Amino acid sequence: MSPGPFSTVARAFEPEALGRPIRLRGWVLRARSSGGILFVVLRDRSGSVQVTARRDAVGAEAFDAAEHVQVEGAIEVDGTVAEDRRAPGGREVRATALRIVHAGEAFPIFADQTEEFRLEQRHLVVRSQEHVATFRVKAELLRALREFLEREEVLEMTPPVLTGNAAEGGSEAFQIDYFGRPGFLSQTAQLYLEALLAPNERVYALTPSFRAEKSRTPRHLTEYLHLEVELAWCDLAELLDFEERMVVAVAHALAERRAPELRVLGRPPEELAGLQGPFPRLSYAEAIERLSAQGLPARWGTDLGTAEERALTLEERRPVFVTHFPRELKAFYMLRSPNDPRTVEAADLLAPEGYGELVGGSCRETDLALLEERIRASGASVDDYRWYLDLRRHGSVPHAGFGLGVERLLRWFLRREHIRETTPFPRTPSRHTP
Ligand code: 4AD
Ligand code: MG
Repeated sequence: MSPGPFSTVARAFEPEALGRPIRLRGWVLRARSSGGILFVVLRDRSGSVQVTARRDAVGAEAFDAAEHVQVEGAIEVDGTVAEDRRAPGGREVRATALRIVHAGEAFPIFADQTEEFRLEQRHLVVRSQEHVATFRVKAELLRALREFLEREEVLEMTPPVLTGNAAEGGSEAFQIDYFGRPGFLSQTAQLYLEALLAPNERVYALTPSFRAEKSRTPRHLTEYLHLEVELAWCDLAELLDFEERMVVAVAHALAERRAPELRVLGRPPEELAGLQGPFPRLSYAEAIERLSAQGLPARWGTDLGTAEERALTLEERRPVFVTHFPRELKAFYMLRSPNDPRTVEAADLLAPEGYGELVGGSCRETDLALLEERIRASGASVDDYRWYLDLRRHGSVPHAGFGLGVERLLRWFLRREHIRETTPFPRTPSRHTP
């Protein structure tokens, strides 16, 4: 009987596969030979299975060649699915033929190598079980975010990443040479999303953002994936409800669709399935009171850094909103609070357990004159924002929006020590290779 076309490894574990021929291809997870039998654990995108090859079944030439295949070498196998209680999953494939696709060189990645070496070898380390699981969860997170936004009738937009001015304060932007003129890598798509708001009312973008901060912390990347949403006719309370619904929806989607990967990574899916709103909401003023009661040197005007965010959320199981920051601490485009001109209609969403800020959002200032005043007060030039200010001349309506750091959210969902574990090729102040 011919083994037919290639199957995935997962097929070998289906009930009807038992006793039948199968054809597989993939990479060698580990291999050993003893007494004329070669034991290979073969991995493909669907999982891994033990393959046993007897010299007399596959022929001396193929057997000898296969004995030299290295870890992460690639092979093709024809065989029969058999029961074997000692094999992982209770099944093995007994090979009738083996072909070497690429024997490979000795794989240089082992357990207990230094973190620096592993970062240098990231292009190979991404094959590890931990990384495979992480990036599958990340793919599902992106899918779940897009599904949620589609249900909410928010339209995906494609703003540029190369820009002529820095939106979130010039000091943190990467400057580039744009044919002899200054250019910048985008820190936020917000201003473009605001321009695209009028014809669409609800828009979002999922683009890389760049921050040239030399922040060597477990939650800063210099390049990260930024989900930004902009909603017309939206006030602060509605904005927070939207953020909360979104975080709960994607947590539930991951628990449902990526439970095995979550378990591999040590995050019980039940915990994500159990996440529910409402998330606690406290004003900046209340946060400052709480912090000084805990003995931290916080007073009105203090920004909430890592230590403050940690103190506010360490005991929480749900994210926490902090609202109504002093306007000096926040960006020029934030709407002045109607009841307190010292504060802005803004909120940061902080992850529980000290993982820090996940989302920054606000209502946007709609008044041209006030906006110009805030730009000047921030030290920027009104001229740099000419096109943005035009938006306040033609149908300027109440609107609000937010930006979420995808890797920040994933870091909390997966309880990773460092944000670099949530992206395959992390960009940090000390590294932009491989
Ligand atoms: O709070 P930020 O700077 O807000 C903005 O850029 C707004 N213009 C977004 C908007 O309203 N459209 O950044 C938003 C989020 C943060 O809450 C954080 O999750 C993430 O982006 N973020 C980072 N993630 C990883 N590494 C960094 N260096 C980050 N800086 C911000
Ligand atoms: Mg922020």
